[in-house]
Amino acid sequence: MSAKVFVSRPIPEPGLESLKQAGLRVEVNPEDRVLTSEELVRFCRGKEGLLCLLTDAIDRAFLDQVPDLKSVATMSVGYNHIDLEAAAEKGIGVSNTPGVLTDATAELTWALLLAVARRIPEAARFLRGGEFTGWGPMLFLGTELYGKTLGIVGAGRIGTAVGLRAAAFGMKVIYSDPRRNRELEKRTRAEPAELDRLLAESDFASLHVPLTEETRGLIGRGELRRMKKSAFLINVSRGAVVDEEALAEALREQEIAGAGLDVYEKEPHVHPGLLTLKNVVLLPHIGSATVETRTRMAVMAGEDLAAMLAGRPPANPVPLPR
Ligand code: GLV
Repeated sequence: MSAKVFVSRPIPEPGLESLKQAGLRVEVNPEDRVLTSEELVRFCRGKEGLLCLLTDAIDRAFLDQVPDLKSVATMSVGYNHIDLEAAAEKGIGVSNTPGVLTDATAELTWALLLAVARRIPEAARFLRGGEFTGWGPMLFLGTELYGKTLGIVGAGRIGTAVGLRAAAFGMKVIYSDPRRNRELEKRTRAEPAELDRLLAESDFASLHVPLTEETRGLIGRGELRRMKKSAFLINVSRGAVVDEEALAEALREQEIAGAGLDVYEKEPHVHPGLLTLKNVVLLPHIGSATVETRTRMAVMAGEDLAAMLAGRPPANPVPLPR
């Protein structure tokens, strides 16, 4: 009898195909919305596999209620929404989708950085609002990238891809990471720096760390105060890496020049203090949202779920605590 799997939301078709081709019986959330925890439990009862998303809370309470579940593939690189300890205790295998979203996320980082530096959303709104009456010498003056310093916090796959693109803009790169990144150093002459120094020297500080107990609240009031008044903060990692209340205050008080955010502490909630500010560009968590990348993520998650259910190791296992 082939195993049953649940897919928590409609995903690109090739991902579903990879499950079906493996002979799995696939049920997909019929609605394009996040399920409540009760609904997720109901759909997952009697299923051995789950293809989930970063918006699903795969916590102990959930896992306790779905005793048939053997494997979870998350269609995301981040896995802070999964209780790995509980999964390990229950012998549930977990996989994620690293690598395939690196370029898309790096590209969005630059889109955000340029958008906030050159005030693009503000200027576009101005034009559509009928306010453009002609070229002006003082109209929408922004900040130039050339010759400035980009500070990368977390030089893993995505941080590195962001850093490699900095040369195209003539920027200097510094980075903070527990590990030396020789590739970044060699290809961009990037210098490693402690976080404090990075924040003090960067004109643009860009966050690329996973959300862990160590990185939760990494950028708080004190860290924001260390930044230059002319600097910008970019976050495409996880919202909870930044203290949003402190950021809203720093932006309001013009302690920093601006921010570009794709992620929030309590998505989809956005701190109301951010929504009213002009010097912040806010996007709805679309770092990996390209047709190419989302298709690759869906296939990767589908293939890994099929592998785990067939008793084979997935290509992208999430290391579980022992
Ligand atoms: C996106 O945020 C991801 O973790 O894939």
